[in-house]
Amino acid sequence: MKVKVIPVLEDNYMYLLIEERSRDAVAVDAAVPKRLLDIVRREAVELRALLTTHHHWDHARGNEELARLCPGLRVFGADERIGGLTHPVTHGQELFGSIRVRCLRTPGHTSGHVCYFAWEDESPDAPALFSGDALLVGGCGRLCEGSAEQMLSSLTGVLPALPRDTKVFCGHECTVRNLKFALKVEPDNEAAKQKLAWAKVSGSAGARAAPRLPPHGPCRVRSHFGKYEKKDLKV
Ligand SMILES: [Fe+2]
Repeated sequence: MKVKVIPVLEDNYMYLLIEERSRDAVAVDAAVPKRLLDIVRREAVELRALLTTHHHWDHARGNEELARLCPGLRVFGADERIGGLTHPVTHGQELFGSIRVRCLRTPGHTSGHVCYFAWEDESPDAPALFSGDALLVGGCGRLCEGSAEQMLSSLTGVLPALPRDTKVFCGHECTVRNLKFALKVEPDNEAAKQKLAWAKVSGSAGARAAPRLPPHGPCRVRSHFGKYEKKDLKV
């Protein structure tokens, strides 16, 4: 399973998952259709479906245009406000064939937010989590609709159950900003200091810091709600 990382808008990411034998592809949070379709053509793949993490415009605004341009395109999501939605999903539901996708409800940022966990059986590639605005590098999306308790449950109850080698592909690049905030809260946090240094080096090379794995191993998933949960996840 190949994952194309596509930076769009101010700091968003779209993604294209490619099943390399069949050349079938699935897009995640397709906010900029033209950019996505240029890459679909360049990669010589067939776009079969869209996975949308939540209804916000910077994640879902391209859905209807893509559905118009690609007849038969299936649009998955867990919120009826998602444009062009054809296949509502539920928590734990599994989709597709050779690329397997499990839907994970992760409310907090929005009430209908869902993350997608993707893997291929009998493949050496690490599994991938497309976390939208539920989990960012060094932080999480703001509480637009859900409660702090819901977000905490999503981050510490649902996501840490995934395999330790899961690669996390998040919805926005705000790594440096998040880690600077984390260090205001915890000025002595060595893990945050190391990750900030890594993010600045990644950025200075002209690339966005996320979603690469940091060179210094797993970090803790923490909330900014006052209590910390010491669960390990790679972000
Ligand atoms: Fe959002």
